[in-house]
Formats: sequence, structure tokens, C-alpha cells
Amino acid sequence: MLTTNEIRRSFLDYFGSNGHEVVQSAPLVPYNDPTLMFVAAGMVPFKNVFTGLETRAVPRATSSQKCVRAGGKHNDLDNVGYTARHLTFFEMLGNFSFGDYFKERAIELAWGLVHKELGLPKDRLTVTVYHTDDQAFDLWKKIAGLPDERIIRIATKDNFWAAGPDGPCGPCSEIFYDYGPDVHGGPPGSPEEDGDRFVEVWNLVFMQYVQAAEEIVGDLPRPSIDTGMGLERIASVLQGKRNVFDTDTFAHLIENSQALVGAASDDDTIASHRVIADHLRSTSFLLADGVLPSNEGRGYVLRRIMRRAMRHAHLLGARDPLMHRLVPALVAEMGQAYPELGRAQPLIEETLQREEIQFRRTLANGLKLLDEATGTMGEGGELPGETAFKLYDTFGFPYDLTEDALRARGIGVDRAGFDAAMDRQKAAARAAWKGSGEAAAGEVWFDIAEREGASEFTGYTSTQGEGRVVALVKDGAEVGSAEAGDTVIVLTNQTPFYGESGGQAGDAGTIVGPGGLRLTVTDTSKPLGRLHAMHARVESGRIAVGETVNLAVDAERRDGTRANHSATHLLHSALRHRLGNHVTQKGSLVAHDRLRFDFSHPAALSAADIAAIESEVNAEIRHNEAVTTRLMSPDEAIDAGAMALFGEKYGDEVRVLSMGRTGAEGRNYSVELCGGTHVDATGDIGVFRIISESAVSSGVRRIEALTGEGARAWLVRREDALKGIAATLKTSPDEAEARVAALVEERRRLERELADAKKAIALGSGGGTAQAADESVNGVTFSGQVIDGLDAKELRGLLDQAKTRIGSGIAALVAVNDGRASVAVAVTDDLTGRFSAVDLVRAAVEALGGKGGGGRPDMAQGGGPDGDKAGEAIAAIKGVIGG
Ligand code: ALA
Repeated sequence: MLTTNEIRRSFLDYFGSNGHEVVQSAPLVPYNDPTLMFVAAGMVPFKNVFTGLETRAVPRATSSQKCVRAGGKHNDLDNVGYTARHLTFFEMLGNFSFGDYFKERAIELAWGLVHKELGLPKDRLTVTVYHTDDQAFDLWKKIAGLPDERIIRIATKDNFWAAGPDGPCGPCSEIFYDYGPDVHGGPPGSPEEDGDRFVEVWNLVFMQYVQAAEEIVGDLPRPSIDTGMGLERIASVLQGKRNVFDTDTFAHLIENSQALVGAASDDDTIASHRVIADHLRSTSFLLADGVLPSNEGRGYVLRRIMRRAMRHAHLLGARDPLMHRLVPALVAEMGQAYPELGRAQPLIEETLQREEIQFRRTLANGLKLLDEATGTMGEGGELPGETAFKLYDTFGFPYDLTEDALRARGIGVDRAGFDAAMDRQKAAARAAWKGSGEAAAGEVWFDIAEREGASEFTGYTSTQGEGRVVALVKDGAEVGSAEAGDTVIVLTNQTPFYGESGGQAGDAGTIVGPGGLRLTVTDTSKPLGRLHAMHARVESGRIAVGETVNLAVDAERRDGTRANHSATHLLHSALRHRLGNHVTQKGSLVAHDRLRFDFSHPAALSAADIAAIESEVNAEIRHNEAVTTRLMSPDEAIDAGAMALFGEKYGDEVRVLSMGRTGAEGRNYSVELCGGTHVDATGDIGVFRIISESAVSSGVRRIEALTGEGARAWLVRREDALKGIAATLKTSPDEAEARVAALVEERRRLERELADAKKAIALGSGGGTAQAADESVNGVTFSGQVIDGLDAKELRGLLDQAKTRIGSGIAALVAVNDGRASVAVAVTDDLTGRFSAVDLVRAAVEALGGKGGGGRPDMAQGGGPDGDKAGEAIAAIKGVIGG
């Protein structure tokens, strides 16, 4: 008997040896198909190849594609565990021809596999064809030799397959396995077709058309083939099982959960084990592909699946969290075919455990409430919607979990009442927001958020992707479309554009679409904290609500932002190390070209502090450790050492960013709560340079810094300036500093020499023409002189020397500097009885346009603004002496 792993292998080998490229499964999140929540068919990753938008080197491919059908259009969640075939996660085996072979070869290959290779007997096989497809009918007859009554024509949509409302489509032909007359049911198209006797195992789609909004709008460039065979179904056929949960993979998973719960299954408990086995697969694969539990979008579908499984674990009597303990068995079973599962095992286990602990805290109380509310109800009863809403809002019971919990007792739930309660809560939130006084224009965001839900951010892992336009806002109001030249805010159901929050600036980039549509996005904001609003200008074409557009973030700019954001975290840690734990973040700005970090600290940082902090951050950068992101509850994050930002509001779970080396106590250099985008490893930051440190307000300092290319360019500019200085000095940059120091010293020396020279001139020893000519005024020897550029400080010394020279008499000196004059007068002691230096100086000061002047009778000093009146000042002194 072939195991499931062997069946997968032989399918891929069969098509591989028939000229098909064996392609790895794409991730479950279809970033390139915004109309789908999860990949739900093998052809989804090849959609653009069918329509000719993309080409592949080999026009034939085969894959085993991971699929999830839960949430969104394809939703099998409610049935899982209670039917023989429904699964939320399954693998679709497929072979694809992109304009290569068509119907005949597709049927030959399919028949060759099921009948010849896998050995299914001809009399157990029945096929269907689209009612008008005579060609397919004839080919089945010719190739498989099936009798007419086992080639059934079907007129309904069942035999016309499309990937979704938009995209490639065409008539199809399905292969059914007949479990035999013991099982209830009839062939396809018969009234009993829903029974379990005839089971569809393979769908061959003859891709021919393209549709838009479910209308055929054209032909594919070339007819193509898309087929899908559910691995679990073919495994049950080949292993002789009627229920997919009895095949080897599920049997192993169920044995494992039975062993861990410690009880064998009976009819009552087997459904719970099946639910757990299926949900373990879907949740683990979703987590491995980057979906994390949340309260919106894909994350919420994941949480609903998890919680449904966790309630069943509780139902089975598991006292401790169970789900994470089942992961090793799943990895053993499927990790070889899907290596991403093993790689993500720690993340999967940790997330499941945390979710289960969190959910268990409220599960028992919620179930109690449920029991109280339904205690007296019998089969056919209905739980009030208000109670279902309370379970959802207070106890974290997703609606379908409440439904599932009451299902066994035949009790329903009032969905309309639940929705009404939900609407009332939203209205209350809107009213509270209005009261908060924010701009009334924001009303439009509430309308959009209520109608469309949060927009999903896909930009942690990619900078490109498609999105469906859900709203356009122009001048504060919603519009249906916008034309070239318009400035418009674009909202899509998912986007890689980061909306400004947590200090990180919004992304810029481009949006393109059909018909030459092109927009330039200049910024992205995040109204209500859950919508991503892309502020754009329509460059060409027309954008309309409902269209699918291609969103591309300016990746280089984003890389700059990532480097600056991660550097901000490292800086925060370095500041605390160097300055102490009183340092807390007071604000930050992370842009693509710079970063700014405000923090509490009482004094300016010294040059040594700045150098040490910068060096510590650069050391972490050079160690180039991977940056890791984990999701935790806020309390767990703080236990893990995350620096919580005081006053910030956090939801049920937070992203915890760890980066840098691991310290002695097992903690990374930096652990912070953060929703921003970061580098993959610290080395991506390149280099970190602090360019300024300043005060913001009392007790708050600000550091501005650059990283990567910005820092390099800054350093180059500095270097160029140094080179320019060196060139002017006619020396090398290495010598420039010593040369500048020598020049400054030389200048000081020259200034000193100049002052000395002027003094010497004044004293007459320089042989200059300015020497004082002693004269006799009123019988008194008088020496009067004006000296340009003499420092006023020198006046007294010079006058002392003049007194000595003349022995008895009066000396006066006027120093003129920058148009102002200083004057000093000295009277030898023998004459102080007749003349006061103070009187003489006052007369001079007055002539100089000044006031006052003072000192002692033998020496006085003053000054005035009119330097050009120096001669008059000397004359005024002589006038006083002359009486
Ligand atoms: N894409 C086709 C299906 O999913 C084969 O059924």
C-alpha cells in the first residue's frame, strides 16, 4: 500500500518524467492575487502564466500545492471533523500546460497515471465532461475505452472551472472513483450524487477563456491545461479508506493526539481528534508561511481555526495546552515534503502554546456563560445574538466556535442578533472618537473601515504585491474613480505600503494597473490605526474602485527606513548602557534618510559619551546577527525584557523585535515592542554616525544620526572639506591639522610682534616719524602724541616711560582703534599742584565726542567715539595747560 508521501512522490515523478518541471508549492498567502484570502487551488501561483503576463522557461509544470479553504469564498471550516472529506488544509496535486499540450495529451496523461501507474481498475472509474464538450467525450472513449454511460455530460457550473471572479477559466472533466454498491450514493448528475459512493478524485480543466467579474471577456492566448487532484482523497482511494481521516497521515496524527490526551477514541470523541488533526495542519502551515494570529483578516481566520481546535482539546479533557505538543509528529509526517515546516517549528510551537494559554484563561468562563444561557434549551433552540457577541467580545469566542460548541446539542445561534450587537459596538466607538475632537473629515475613515475592515499590511516580507481598490478618497470624500492629474488617497484590501506609525515614516512608491494606469504614491498614513491610506497623484489613466492594481514600494527608500529603524533600537540600548536605565524614549522619527531619537537625560552628552555610544552601536552592526520578530502578549513581551513605551496602547498581542548579540542572561542586545519594518540582520545597517546632540526641553535630549549610504555620503562630504583645506594649505589631509595649529600659533606670534612694533614706534625707539615732539606750553614741557592702532592697554605704560624721559612736565597719548579713541594724560608729581590729569583728560574726552574720564591727578584716562578728532583732543589739553 502506498503511503501518502509515496503517492505525492509518484505523482510528481510521473509528470517530471513526462517533461514537466517539478515546482515547489507556493506559500499559502497569495500576495499576487488580492481576490483570494489563501491559495485554494494548485493553479493559483500560475495565474499570470496562463494569461500570458508571465512566461516560464518550460511550458509544463507539476506541483503539490498547499491549499487552505477556510475564510473567504472557499470556507469548509464548519464541516471539518463531521464529514468524510472536508479539510481546511489539503494538498492539491496538479499538472499544468501553459499553451503547450491540450485536451488529448491531458487525458492521456491522466489516464496513464490513474489506471496504468496507480492501478485503479477501469470499472471503478467514471468521468464527467461539460455537456457541450463532444471532443472531450470522444477522447475519453478513444483513450480510456470507457463506455458511453460512464462518460457523463454535466450541464451545470460543476463542470466549468474558474480560479475566482477574475482570471483564466474553462470547461472541465472530472474523474470519479466508485466505492461500490455497499456505499450509499449515485453517479454524478444523479439525484444521489451527494452520497459517498462516487468520489471526485481529479479535475482536468481545459483552460480556454479569461473572465472578469464572472463574465467571459476573452480567450486565453493559447489553450492550456490545469488539473487538480486532492492528495488526501486519492490516498483514501488507494488505501481503501472511505474517510480521509483514516489515511496514514491522519491516522498517525490522531494516534499521537490520543496518546497525549491519554484516552482512546470512541464515537463521541473521534470528531474532536479529527478536528484537531486537520486544524493542526492548517494552523502550522499558515504560521510557517508567515500568517500570525490577529483580530483581522487572515490572522483572524488563523485564530478562529486555532481556537476551534483548542476548544476540542478542552472537550477531550486535555488539562494543559495540547496543540503545540502535536507539532513534532506533524513535522515528522510532512516536514520532508515541506521543509518550511521544520524551519518554522519553534515559531509554530511557541505561537500555538501562547495562544492556547491565553485562550484557556477565558475558555472555562465562556463555556460557563454558554451553559447558563442554553441550560434549559432543547434541540432546535437558539442562543441570543447578544450572548454570542458577549462570548466573542469578552471571552474571545469566534462566532463559528460558539456555533460549533452548540452543534452537538442541536442549538443554533441568532446571527442577525450577533451582527446587530457588533454594529452597536462599532457605533459606540465612532461616537467616542467624534467626541475626542479630531477632525470631522475623519468620518470617512470610519465608513470605510466598517464596510471593508482593516487593510492588511503585507510589507513585512515583501515590497510588491497586488491589491483590490476598496475606496478612493478625494478632498475628504469618497469617489468612485480618479483621473490623470487628480490627487487621491487610495485604499486597497492589502498593501505592502507601510502607513506612518510608531515614529516610522510612511512608504512612497508607485501603483500601476490596466489601461496605462500609473500613480505616484508620495506618502502613506494610517487612519484609525488600521487603514493604509496611500496618498497619490494619478499620472496617467484612470483608477476605479473594484479594480486590481499592482503596488510597488520604493524599495531603496524602504531599505533606508529599515536601516534607520533598526539603528534606532540599537541606539536606545547603547544609551541605556552608557548613561543608565533612566534613559527612556521620548519620541522618535525614522525616515529613509535620517533618524532622530529623543530621550530623557538631565545633561548634555560629552564628546566621550557620544563616541562610546556610536562605537557600541557600530560593534553590534558588525556582528551582523539576524533580527528576529515574535508575537507575544504585552505581559510576556515585558517579561522577555522588551522595553515598553510608557503611555502606548497595545492590543492583544505585540510584535517583539530582538536584535544584536545574546547576552549572559539569554537576552538580545535590544528587545523592543515594535510594529515597524526592520533589517534582516544588523549588518544591513552598514554604518551608524551621530551627527548632532542637542536639548529638546528640560531633561530631554535629542540625537540625530545617519546610517548606511546616508552616513557614508556624510563622511565623504567631511572628507572632501578636509581635502579642500589641505589643498589651500598646500599640504596633505594627514598634515592639515598640524599645519592649521602652526598657522594659528604663527598668527598669535605675529600679532604680538605687531603690538611690540607699534609700542616701539610710540616710544621713539623705532626711529619712526610718529615720535613725540616735546614742546613748551605755558612754561611746562608737554609731550602729546596720537598713535593709530595702539591697544588702549598700552597707554599707561607708555606714559610712565614718557614721564621718566621728560623728568618734569605733562604727557598725553591718544590711541585710535576702529574709529574710536582712547586718551590718557600723565602729570609729573612736581606739577600735580598746578594741573590735574583728570581735568586735562576731560577736556580731551569732550573733544573726542565722549563724556567723563577719570583717574588720579597724576594719571587719568578716558575715551570718545570720534577717533578722527584725536588732533583736537591734544589741542584741547594744550589749551587747558595754556590757561
Ligand atoms: N484548478 C482546478 C481545481 O481546483 C483543477 O479543481
